[in-house]
Amino acid sequence: MLQQLSDANQSQLIDRFGRRVDYLRMSVTDRCDFRCVYCMSEDMTFLPRQQVLSLEELLSVGRSFVEQGVKRIRITGGEPLVRQGLPWLLERLAALPGLDELTLTTNGSQLPRLATTLKDAGVSRLNISLDTLDESLFRELTRTGDLHKVLAGIDAAIDAGFDRIKLNAVILKGRNSNEVPALVQYATDRGLDISFIEEMPLGTITEHDRALQFCSSDEVRQIIEQEFTELLPTTNKTGGPSKYYRLPDSKSRIGFISPHSHNFCGDCNRVRLTAAGRLLLCLGQEHSVDLRAVLREQGADEQSLVRAIRGSMAIKPEGHTFDLNADAAEPLRFMNLTGG
Ligand code: GTP
Ligand code: 5AD
Ligand code: SF4
Repeated sequence: MLQQLSDANQSQLIDRFGRRVDYLRMSVTDRCDFRCVYCMSEDMTFLPRQQVLSLEELLSVGRSFVEQGVKRIRITGGEPLVRQGLPWLLERLAALPGLDELTLTTNGSQLPRLATTLKDAGVSRLNISLDTLDESLFRELTRTGDLHKVLAGIDAAIDAGFDRIKLNAVILKGRNSNEVPALVQYATDRGLDISFIEEMPLGTITEHDRALQFCSSDEVRQIIEQEFTELLPTTNKTGGPSKYYRLPDSKSRIGFISPHSHNFCGDCNRVRLTAAGRLLLCLGQEHSVDLRAVLREQGADEQSLVRAIRGSMAIKPEGHTFDLNADAAEPLRFMNLTGG
């Protein structure tokens, strides 16, 4: 019995603060067909292809994490659906024994073409970014995006029959904050969940002043309650940072992701792999382990990967230190490198 317990602990990833890591976010590309103003600068240089992990390398990392107790994998980008051959990887990840769910976060632009393929490959939940329902504001915020394609993509995802679909809206004060009621209405009409996100200072941008356009989750909540009625708290947990509420008589969950106003690092259960194979131990810090180097080292085997991943638990930081006003701080990498 004791031996069994210790074997079980051996195959779990636990950090110095006693937090169990059972959730991996894998960025499969840093490229994207949009240039969202909070995520990228207008002129971005993307990674040369040989620096990006191959699909086989991504599968090896995913398999190793699942063997070490990871229960959920979320595929991210950039925009994951611009990665060629992605369904090959999804099918194999979804079939890993021990994985409870494979999910994916997308900007929705490729969903009219790919929604059914994703569902068939084993993706159970989708998160789709949607910051506004106004066509010209959508173009302004994404710089290149076409709202109609994304709305058609959401319809295609609904038709494909995913277990749940969640919309993500990053809210910037004076830009899309007055779009909040329309977004809530759109989500509730379709039985979709929606999360409102506070912008995080990842990468240096000049398009807007992040501190000036900061809109807290409490402000978004007030906007919703003024337009509709009081939000009811729920005990729903998806293993993510969203705190969920709902409107009476609605199945839709209304979530708030509030890294600034309600820090959730104490419950952190996740690590992330960049498209270049860097294992980041926190979204808001640079502590990392280069898994690409391990994968591409001569003579490396599965145990080398296991050792590198287990060892990374010793440097997982306690939490982020985001400061929207700090000019002095080193800018962290752009969000498209990490996938959120
Ligand atoms: P679930 O698996 O459904 O909980 O998804 P999620 O909401 O965590 O994932 P999604 O990819 O939709 O990300 C939504 C927002 O949450 C993005 O802005 C992410 O950057 C942010 N986010 C996700 N995980 C973390 C985290 O560990 N820390 C911080 N600060 N933000 C996170
Ligand atoms: N702050 C908060 N959320 C961001 N996202 C992209 N950049 C940022 C940022 N700087 C969101 C996207 C997408 C998710 C993966 O991350 O809108 O929904
Ligand atoms: Fe692309 Fe998503 Fe970044 Fe927008 S937020 S530029 S859709 S990766």
